[in-house]
Amino acid sequence: MAIHFLSLFPLLLLLLPNILFLPTSAIDFVFNGFDSSDLILFANTTLESNILSLTNASAFKVGRALYKSKIQTKTPNSSHVLPFYSSFIFSIAPYKDELPGHGFVFIFTPSASIEGASSSQHLGLFNGTNNGNSNNHVFGIEFDVFENPEFNDINNNHVGVDVNSLASITAHPAGFWPENGDFNEVKLNDGVNYQVWVDYVNSQLNVSMARAGMKRPERNLISVNLDLADVLFDEMFVGFCAATGRLVQSHRILAWSFSNSNSSVSEALITSNLPSFVPPKDSVFRSTGFIVGIILSGIFVISCGTGIYVFLDRRKKWLKRKREEMEDWELEYWPHRITYQEIHSATKGFSDATVIGFGGNGKVYKGVMVGGVEVAVKRISHETEQGIREFLAEVSSLGRLQHRSLVGMRGWCKRDKGSLILVYDYMENGSLDKRIFECEESVMLSWEERVRVLKDVAAGILYLHEGWESRVLHRDVKASNVLLDKDMNGRLGDFGLARMHGHGQAANTTRVVGTVGYMAPEVIRSGRASAQTDVFGFGILILEVVCGRRPIEDGKVPLVDWVWRLMEKGELLSAFDVRLKAKGGFDDDEVERVIHLGLLCAYPDPLVRPTMRQVVKLLEGTYIAYESEGEGMEVCLLDKTKSTAMWSKYRRSSRHGGHPTFDQVKESLSSSMSLSGSDIISEGR
Ligand SMILES: *[C@@H]1O[C@H](CO)[C@@H](O)[C@H](O)[C@H]1NC(C)=O
Ligand SMILES: *[C@@H]1O[C@H](CO)[C@@H](O)[C@H](O)[C@H]1NC(C)=O
Ligand SMILES: *[C@@H]1O[C@H](CO)[C@@H](O)[C@H](O)[C@H]1NC(C)=O
Ligand SMILES: *[C@@H]1O[C@H](CO)[C@@H](O)[C@H](O)[C@H]1NC(C)=O
Ligand SMILES: *[C@@H]1O[C@H](CO)[C@@H](O)[C@H](O)[C@H]1NC(C)=O
Ligand SMILES: *[C@@H]1O[C@H](CO)[C@@H](O)[C@H](O)[C@H]1NC(C)=O
Repeated sequence: MAIHFLSLFPLLLLLLPNILFLPTSAIDFVFNGFDSSDLILFANTTLESNILSLTNASAFKVGRALYKSKIQTKTPNSSHVLPFYSSFIFSIAPYKDELPGHGFVFIFTPSASIEGASSSQHLGLFNGTNNGNSNNHVFGIEFDVFENPEFNDINNNHVGVDVNSLASITAHPAGFWPENGDFNEVKLNDGVNYQVWVDYVNSQLNVSMARAGMKRPERNLISVNLDLADVLFDEMFVGFCAATGRLVQSHRILAWSFSNSNSSVSEALITSNLPSFVPPKDSVFRSTGFIVGIILSGIFVISCGTGIYVFLDRRKKWLKRKREEMEDWELEYWPHRITYQEIHSATKGFSDATVIGFGGNGKVYKGVMVGGVEVAVKRISHETEQGIREFLAEVSSLGRLQHRSLVGMRGWCKRDKGSLILVYDYMENGSLDKRIFECEESVMLSWEERVRVLKDVAAGILYLHEGWESRVLHRDVKASNVLLDKDMNGRLGDFGLARMHGHGQAANTTRVVGTVGYMAPEVIRSGRASAQTDVFGFGILILEVVCGRRPIEDGKVPLVDWVWRLMEKGELLSAFDVRLKAKGGFDDDEVERVIHLGLLCAYPDPLVRPTMRQVVKLLEGTYIAYESEGEGMEVCLLDKTKSTAMWSKYRRSSRHGGHPTFDQVKESLSSSMSLSGSDIISEGR
């Protein structure tokens, strides 16, 4: 679902030598499931649970879906056709008691329209008039399950290369060559998910296919020399079309990748745990064979016993399958689904011996998956369907949310209504709060370790905020949600979970989510979370990590107020964790700098808080030379921070100028930080 336009400047620099030979508009996309904004849909095409459904059981229908914009296919005004590498996963399934037909085509077409396309044997691509016309400028790969003598079809289960015509220039029965063995013919419309690879380089076209999940066969199904220079225009639409006739079947596309430059882009397609559209086999109970079998086995007691055993076994399996059946919406999030059985056996049946913690809303177990991978399993119950759905929408549909500063989520499983099981990577060193507050001296984190963990967490939040095309809010940044891996790196866990807590109120009302003491004032006021509220939470995290104090402790002034008063009195260092202070080995300036940052992040007015990007840079205190131009302001800011001039200037003002107000802090930071409103707005997605 990620579209990588080559926008990252550092990456661009690295790739510069390659890019010089590419058109400026080189395209590169991967859809593991589709959003309506990714595609243009025509006629009877629908998106069902992020799966593209070109046709359904309605007769004489056509479907077509094109990538949302034209793509460059030739070097402008030349006959040089650009290479392309595309791969997709499809499923064609018959309907019960219906004869199946007709097929679908992966197409390049000049216009965003479906004019001149008819159903049945024309596959939603051409009609009786325009078929074979060289003015069509259409190129396609057909997956056809009906033998049309008029188009010289080789059989009723073939893959063909179509240029302006449904009479393929070359075709082959569908299937693949296993590593060493005979051709393995597959039935295109048996409902199984198949992956197809279509590559075109230097007038050579290669097409291969295999069952989804298998690796690409070495030997191509079709390999043909084909100059598309006269067929393709400089820019074309690319997509899929399909048709039903009197014969009907479903045509689905589950995932699709395309690139002009990256021959391995197909590796980003998720090929496992896909939903299956294989039609169920006819029930044994209804078949006459079974009844006859029962009668016969009634005669022979032993075989009767066997029959009952088979019956019970099947019934058990059937019940099990029934229970595991996905609801429609769950299909949307299939990439991360794990079966209950796998989790059950990983945690030894959720045995108490494997409990490693108690989360806000359930136990956390340690498990070992098949293959020896250690995982943390979080069991959450009593959630509304709506809450689970929103959570999965945010976390799971993003594909593989992976960052070294986030606790990797391996998957999820929904057992019964309202109960969700989440599987995370196992973090050897537990949560951050256990190594800061009320802990043994021996396990307490040192100053360097604390700063490093803060940097890790900041990078993790930045990734949530900006690493994806849609922003993910954490909503509950706090020390107990920061976990430490075996190398003591900080990793943020439980992203998006806060949103699910406390669900059950009427939908669409904003609710306060988060943890008392970490919640920004505007969240308490309006219930609305934003990137700035995560920054607030991070500010509190900084303060608790540096001061070794929980944000709210019985009978004490709240942490922020306390630190703030100390700063006003010019005694900021007395906020520093006494146990660390006793140990020594820290730099006063650095400690103050970090506390300042904490206070700034936890500033009541959200517009004054820095963005996570700025926080990361301030914490790092360094910048990378090939950062893009637009960030010059921040580079300048970082120079200042590095020299600590800004901070000492601030300290001077706090010592000699009496009590600085927060406005003054803001003033001194924002002038150099380019913290203008417009900056925040332009970054606010
Ligand atoms: C299917 O597509 C045709 C052609 O665009 C349109 O006339 C018809 O209304 C569509 N049918 C449905 C059920 O959407
Ligand atoms: C097929 O999809 C169309 C929407 O495109 C819908 O109106 C129609 O009812 C569906 N037909 C069947 C048989 O499911
Ligand atoms: C391509 O040719 C057309 C018409 O001859 C012209 O308008 C256009 O500017 C040319 N484009 C490039 C990139 O040379
Ligand atoms: C095929 O499509 C073209 C263009 O839309 C149209 O002019 C023509 O009448 C159609 N022919 C048939 C047989 O439907
Ligand atoms: C097509 O396949 C052949 C044989 O495997 C290979 O040599 C060639 O490089 C491939 N071409 C493309 C465009 O993938
Ligand atoms: C090509 O795509 C694969 C899969 O998305 C990715 O891992 C790889 O980094 C890409 N290569 C380049 C040069 O972009």
